[in-house]
Amino acid sequence: MSSAVRVRASPSLALIKYWGKRDERRNLPATPSLGLTLAGVYTETRVEPAEEDRVILDGREQDRERFAGFFDAVRRRLRTRMRFQAESRNSFPTAAGLASSSSGFAALAVGCARAAGCALDARELSVLARIGSASAARAVYGGFTLLAAGARAARQLHSEDYWPKLRVLAAVVSTEAKLLASREAMRTTRSASPFYRAWLADSRHLLARALQALERRDIEELGHAVRLSYSRMHAALLASEPPALYWLAATVSVIRECASLRARGIGAWETIDAGPQVKILCLQEDAPAVRRSLMEMMPDLSMIECRPGPGPQLIEGGKG
Ligand code: DP6
Repeated sequence: MSSAVRVRASPSLALIKYWGKRDERRNLPATPSLGLTLAGVYTETRVEPAEEDRVILDGREQDRERFAGFFDAVRRRLRTRMRFQAESRNSFPTAAGLASSSSGFAALAVGCARAAGCALDARELSVLARIGSASAARAVYGGFTLLAAGARAARQLHSEDYWPKLRVLAAVVSTEAKLLASREAMRTTRSASPFYRAWLADSRHLLARALQALERRDIEELGHAVRLSYSRMHAALLASEPPALYWLAATVSVIRECASLRARGIGAWETIDAGPQVKILCLQEDAPAVRRSLMEMMPDLSMIECRPGPGPQLIEGGKG
């Protein structure tokens, strides 16, 4: 039986970055990524059977081309001819750099399956979500997740209860939409950055380092690997022709402030995705000091504090 459903999914922040595709048509990642699903921020999506596929995000109809392959894959997997209308909104500013495509496609995959009355397991949902956005493969699980290079699905390493003291502070330094979509920027890095091969080779080592640190709950070592992952990803981007630079002056100020916090013995390790925002990894006891020092530097800065969060949740419907 089919029906309308509502699903909430939280974004997956990459501690170790996915950047680059092994197979563009199938959307398979070229690097392994280590994700952390964030609590307290989410995409909420209402999905219902419809005459044609449509996605409306924060009141705006989205480009159908972007979703065509995803919906076709959903229909193939669910063995249905059903079409879907999805209305989605983010609880956080879409420009907040909180990987809204990860929560968006995770919510959509779960929503379509439930709206069609199919109970897929998390692995199958991860495969579908990945077709939309590879980072979304991770967001169908809570806690700490791994999407291996070339993998069709992510898996959960630890639930959200594994490290309850861990915090992520998302510093929104600009609300302007990003100029370069990550998909396009990944293509440029692959085809026009002399550092791309080094980035791929290195990402395996960084993952191993981060996994070891995660097993020991060693924030300093994890933070170190997290910093290397984003800085090397952005170095490859910056070295491409034409160069791609997502950072603003305020981005650099936050990076520097984190360095100064660490020098003062306060653990704050930043990471940056395909945009100007900075996400800072720290422990619960250090979060107030990190927040205070950033607010002193930039009084208008808006910050969202997140802890490790759960996977997608069905809010309404889907019982058929
Ligand atoms: C920098 O998952 O949005 O956030 O698969 O092309 O849709 P597509 O890319 P997407 O890229 C995310 C890139 C990143 C790093 C990450 O989340 O791993």
